[in-house]
Amino acid sequence: MEMKIVECSGLNQMAKGICLDGKEKIFVEGLLPGEVAKVQIKKRNSKFTEAILIEITQKSPHRVDAECTIADVCGGCNLQHVSYDEQLKIKQNHAEMMMKIQDRQGEYDFKQIIGSPQRLQYRNKSFITFSYDAQHKIKPSFYIENSNDLVPFETCFVQTDNMNALTQAVAETLNYFDVPLYNRKSREGVLRHICVRENKAGDGLMLVFVVAKAEKKTFIQIAKAVQLRFPLVQSIYMNIQSHASGVLLGKKDVHLAGAEYLVDEVSGVEVNITPQAFFQVNPKQMEQLYEHVLTKMKLTKDVHLLDFYCGIGTMTLLTAKYVATAVGIDVVNSAIEMAKLNAIENGIENADFFGEDVEDFLENFEYTDVKELAAIIDPPRKGCTPEFLTQLGELGPKKIAYVSCNPTTLARDIVQLRAAGYTAGPIQFFDMFPQTMHVEAVVILEKR
Ligand SMILES: C[S@@+](CC[C@H](N)C(=O)[O-])C[C@H]1O[C@@H](n2cnc3c(N)ncnc32)[C@H](O)[C@@H]1O
Repeated sequence: MEMKIVECSGLNQMAKGICLDGKEKIFVEGLLPGEVAKVQIKKRNSKFTEAILIEITQKSPHRVDAECTIADVCGGCNLQHVSYDEQLKIKQNHAEMMMKIQDRQGEYDFKQIIGSPQRLQYRNKSFITFSYDAQHKIKPSFYIENSNDLVPFETCFVQTDNMNALTQAVAETLNYFDVPLYNRKSREGVLRHICVRENKAGDGLMLVFVVAKAEKKTFIQIAKAVQLRFPLVQSIYMNIQSHASGVLLGKKDVHLAGAEYLVDEVSGVEVNITPQAFFQVNPKQMEQLYEHVLTKMKLTKDVHLLDFYCGIGTMTLLTAKYVATAVGIDVVNSAIEMAKLNAIENGIENADFFGEDVEDFLENFEYTDVKELAAIIDPPRKGCTPEFLTQLGELGPKKIAYVSCNPTTLARDIVQLRAAGYTAGPIQFFDMFPQTMHVEAVVILEKR
């Protein structure tokens, strides 16, 4: 058992404390910058060493007691033991550093991160699994980080009261049915997990049973029983995920009970949400972020707007009333169907949507109108492809709003857009995911 005394100088992407001991880089889970601790070496390889925290001998003034008793094992909230002000500083510094490492030439104007209106109970969507207790009763649980083992919980502090209550109601209901829980190790059983969503008003929830095998009749009965216990559930689905992989949702959704969609509202626009739909998880912060995009883009009725990676069209519809026309593009056809329905239900007539890969869309897009072109791009974590950025640069919209959930790929893509003639404005970070290391960023790029 090798022990060491180390001092933490920063956090890595997984919120593990980084400690330098000579040339050795030691990662220690749970340690905060400025803290000194006794650690036990667990694993060593040529690049880094991992150690277990044994005792903190010098505590950070920013250390707080986590609200949640399983925060240190579940891995969902790896910053709950840090005061919120300090979380914001950590995230700001980390995101800035990631961008500077990726883009050493970039001279960025980083603005102070905008904190979340809610630090706890902010999530409108969660995946929850179940385990058996000693009496073989079904309990809501989360997977322990990097493991197939489960830890039961009563309350998840980042999800809403209704979502916690619904999760408990599902667990209690499941005890009356003979549905074996799926086991990731043996790959046997049926119910993998549930996905719970709640709308911003708190008057409607969606429940999705994610199963390894479709047992429709049984799940219709379970759905009805859950509805009786918890009438706020608007819509219940079964999703079939029969692969051994850890993918959370399969491709097929089967409607079981209630409405087809969960109805929500974003800054006055009503949106219908399906089980597969991408929708930001922190609704109040989402509105602040979208508002920021609108303000900074300074859109006018002389603008034709292209909203790439539009999902169910939330931003396309929000921007439509400020521009001549708004077009949303997303590769997921069901999201585009939803976006079209959302446009009709909101009486928005100057928005159109295309279910295509962004590269395929631009391949066939010819623009001859005199109106100014502007674009929003909001890609997944991996960012945009170089091919798409080349096409976009050639198209040459006057302004591009880039919304990103990954500072590294954002900086990489800015490098390419800079070479294509764009100048990046200030970088505004948003804390969309309190208690975690994740940040969202918005930057407006203007054609030189
Ligand atoms: C971060 S979400 C953005 C959603 C939307 N802008 C919003 O605010 O709700 C990323 C979206 O990119 C879509 N997507 C991923 N790769 C794509 C591609 N190659 N072409 C078009 N859409 C893509 C996904 O389906 C997803 O809806």
